[in-house]
Amino acid sequence: METKQLESTAAEIEQAAVILRNGGLVGIPTETVYGLGANGLNPEAVAHIFEAKGRPQDNPLILHIPDASWLERYCQNIPDAAYALAEKFWPGPMTMILPRKDMVPDVVTAGLDTVGMRCPAHPVCRAIIQAADLPVAAPSGNTSGRPSPTTARHMLEDMDGKIDAIVDGGPCSVGVESTIIDLTCTPPRLLRPGGITLEQLRSVLGEVDVDPAVTRLLGAGEKPKAPGMKYRHYAPKAPVTVVTGDPARSAAYIAAHAAPEDGIICFEEFMDWFTRQPGMRRVMDLGPALDKEEQARHIFDALRQFDHTDVPAIWAQCPDASGIGLAIANRLNKAAGFHIIEV
Ligand code: TXA
Ligand code: MG
Repeated sequence: METKQLESTAAEIEQAAVILRNGGLVGIPTETVYGLGANGLNPEAVAHIFEAKGRPQDNPLILHIPDASWLERYCQNIPDAAYALAEKFWPGPMTMILPRKDMVPDVVTAGLDTVGMRCPAHPVCRAIIQAADLPVAAPSGNTSGRPSPTTARHMLEDMDGKIDAIVDGGPCSVGVESTIIDLTCTPPRLLRPGGITLEQLRSVLGEVDVDPAVTRLLGAGEKPKAPGMKYRHYAPKAPVTVVTGDPARSAAYIAAHAAPEDGIICFEEFMDWFTRQPGMRRVMDLGPALDKEEQARHIFDALRQFDHTDVPAIWAQCPDASGIGLAIANRLNKAAGFHIIEV
């Protein structure tokens, strides 16, 4: 099929909404990453998402809604905490796991009795959802296993010819996927770190557990609560080594251990230094060492760029885990299969 490339004008947003209502697939910009949207109440349309992405059937999707008043349509036994979080962080990069109602198709939840709910902040995304007047099921718009797309061009690399249309809403302002908080357990549990930080969640909820899959490789018998966290995600073709610790020390460690033909992801301050090293040509900028928001916007692009090269190995500097650093470290560590060196 031909994938229509739409702009974010009112007429083209309406076109995207019509495609969704008719059971088609549309690439939608969100503030986190681009999503692959379909009518979340139409099982056939949702099944096409799995086909286009090559996504395992046991990995559930989240529903995107225009505001918190829609929670009651698809969820039951909604705790007060859900409304407190929605009040503070919606619209925005946070997904809540809640008990679902039967009307949510099994294909969306992969048979689970819970469903992920998110109210995105991107104005174009909100306009599309409102015009479609539907809960939009949307995973990240990458082929399964590749880094999530943060521009329309990234998404087209993976989805051109496989979906009906994509709406270009510019580069994503957050750059990593939404935070997933499970409200079906006590205390609530962070399943995936993202744009809303653990510190922010704790400021509303008090105690919050962190799922082990966020910070380490699970053992053979262990199962993460977010099925998607078990897959080796965000994986470039070359093996990745993550180096954490003081930025000057991690840069020195990489310089001492990387082969001349290896790829490097480093803080902006070290770009010139690495590019001047003999033989080192593939260096990607993660952003300033102290600006984690900027690093979050660069991380997936940096990983994706290396897939266009034949570097035999990749080395990455990594920020500390406070604030959105937890999400950046999680994505880098997953790309590295949790091969992490602390200096
Ligand atoms: O920022 C985002 O959340 C983006 C944009 C497009 O909104 N979407 C996104 O969706 O990242 P996806 O499908 O790539 O990641 C959703 C994650 C998966 O790891 C999935 O296993 C988990 O959420 N998930 C979905 N429903 C769940 C549920 N009921 N219980 C536990 N985990 C769930
Ligand atoms: Mg994804």
